Amino acid sequence: MIKTEHLRYAYQTDTEETIKFVLDDVNLTVNKGEFVAVLGHNGCGKSTLAKHFNGLLLPSGGMVYINGMNTKQEDLYQEIRKNVGMVFQNPDNQIVATVVEEDVAFAPENLGVPSDEIRHRVDEALKTVGMYELRLHAPHLLSGGQKQRVAIAGAIAMEPECIVFDEPTAMLDPKGRSEVIETMLKLKNEKNMTVVLITHYMEEAARADRVVVMDRGKILRDDTPKNIFSEVKFLKGLGLDVPQVTELCYLLAKAGIPVPQDVLTVEECADALMQLL
Ligand SMILES: Nc1ncnc2c1ncn2[C@@H]1O[C@H](COP(=O)(O)OP(=O)(O)OP(=O)(O)O)[C@@H](O)[C@H]1O
Ligand SMILES: [Mg+2]
Repeated sequence: MIKTEHLRYAYQTDTEETIKFVLDDVNLTVNKGEFVAVLGHNGCGKSTLAKHFNGLLLPSGGMVYINGMNTKQEDLYQEIRKNVGMVFQNPDNQIVATVVEEDVAFAPENLGVPSDEIRHRVDEALKTVGMYELRLHAPHLLSGGQKQRVAIAGAIAMEPECIVFDEPTAMLDPKGRSEVIETMLKLKNEKNMTVVLITHYMEEAARADRVVVMDRGKILRDDTPKNIFSEVKFLKGLGLDVPQVTELCYLLAKAGIPVPQDVLTVEECADALMQLL
């Protein structure tokens, strides 16, 4: 679905002498139907990378392919934007209309999709994110999690194969976060969509098929959540956390208590502790 080859990127505000590659030789493949989480400290280049996935930014060096289409090829821009949707952190910046369903219809209308087709897409998208009942409500009166689900519906209405989420839960309370993460999992599991999730929440990354760890413009790790989070010391060295239950097991093991080091969920942790008792 997505492939980057030796991707480098420098923002143009840099002068010739101070040129700084915010992305430096990034090689990443995201397969169709996969759920990939991207972790990394603030400023390491996650959002810059995400913006390469639908042509919002173009490589300074190397290549990005979306379904085999080179993002540098200008005539493919529209097609690439149709293939990959984006959802950002702040739902308030993404909502443009005063009625939920009009907001979801906005992008396909701009694309010139026929109106009966739009009606169908909007209803389907709102059902998928669980916001169909609230379709006639005013978006600004919704909770953060609900607004973000409307933003996701807006992305789905474009019928992309892949959605890239850039910290979609950062401004949400725990309930809103869980609504959004469940919606993302549903897109992958029921709609067969490819999901890329940039997040600072380790519990969210633990739900992905694969986790990519970035630092200063480079990919340092690309592996299953279990393998990634078993490297507690490495992650902490990068200023990253691990899921709380992983940390608990890590500390127990350090204290000499024999518990597994690849625990990711509360259930797995409870099982491990029960075994001990
Ligand atoms: N428009 C811009 N112009 C110049 N430099 C930028 C621009 N946007 C980001 N940068 C710089 O590029 C680097 C990577 O930024 P980016 O936003 O991709 O990081 P990030 O990993 O998404 O961080 P965060 O976790 O805070 O969202 C940072 O050093 C940042 O200051
Ligand atoms: Mg960012």
